[in-house]
Amino acid sequence: AQVVQAEFIKSSVRTEDCPSDGLPEFALVGRSNVGKSSLLNSLVRRKKLALTSKKPGKTQCINHFKVNDSWYLVDLPGYGYASAPQELRTDWNKFTKDYFLNRSTLVSVFLLIDASIPAKKIDLEYASWLGQNQVPMTFIFTKCDKRKKKRNGGKRPEENVNEFQELIRGFFETAPPWIMTSGVTNQGRDEMLLHMAQLRNY
Ligand code: GTP
Ligand code: MG
Repeated sequence: AQVVQAEFIKSSVRTEDCPSDGLPEFALVGRSNVGKSSLLNSLVRRKKLALTSKKPGKTQCINHFKVNDSWYLVDLPGYGYASAPQELRTDWNKFTKDYFLNRSTLVSVFLLIDASIPAKKIDLEYASWLGQNQVPMTFIFTKCDKRKKKRNGGKRPEENVNEFQELIRGFFETAPPWIMTSGVTNQGRDEMLLHMAQLRNY
């Protein structure tokens, strides 16, 4: 299930503007700076296909990347970016939520969670919303290469992941699948590609 080809197709601000060729797609969503664009680059083995930045708020539209001419990876704006103007923030909420509920070719939402820090309230809120709305999803834990740091709660990624799993238990009838990844070491890349291949063949 390797990527042989990947290309940027288009940026959209509304669900209706997204590509209409009916190919299956997977959306990367998560807090600003969680590593959505880095993970996308790691999956397709290209350093700069999706633009990344130390400054949160880099990705601002629904960006479609076509893979192997047969499915899409979709890079979405991050949530919880406190310094974005309030107006912009609600807009992101509106259009990403509309996209989750109405995009018929969306196979699974990949909710990215930073494994190098303790669970954040806003991540729990998004997980809960997806669960309540029965949007098919997968948890993708990012930055699993990072060592524990006192200022980040002093826990290893594995410990943060276990705690997160406990906290979200009540949100889902059946626990969604989850994968540990790193855009730096490419941990989890093959597992993600296999997971997506299996979901596409349902
Ligand atoms: P927005 O588009 O602003 O919402 O951010 P994003 O989620 O796309 O994050 P992006 O990929 O731009 O990465 C944000 C920062 O985290 C960058 O400085 C990355 O180098 C860093 N980063 C991303 N993934 C990893 C990872 O797996 N490990 C480590 N150590 N750093 C990472
Ligand atoms: Mg981004």
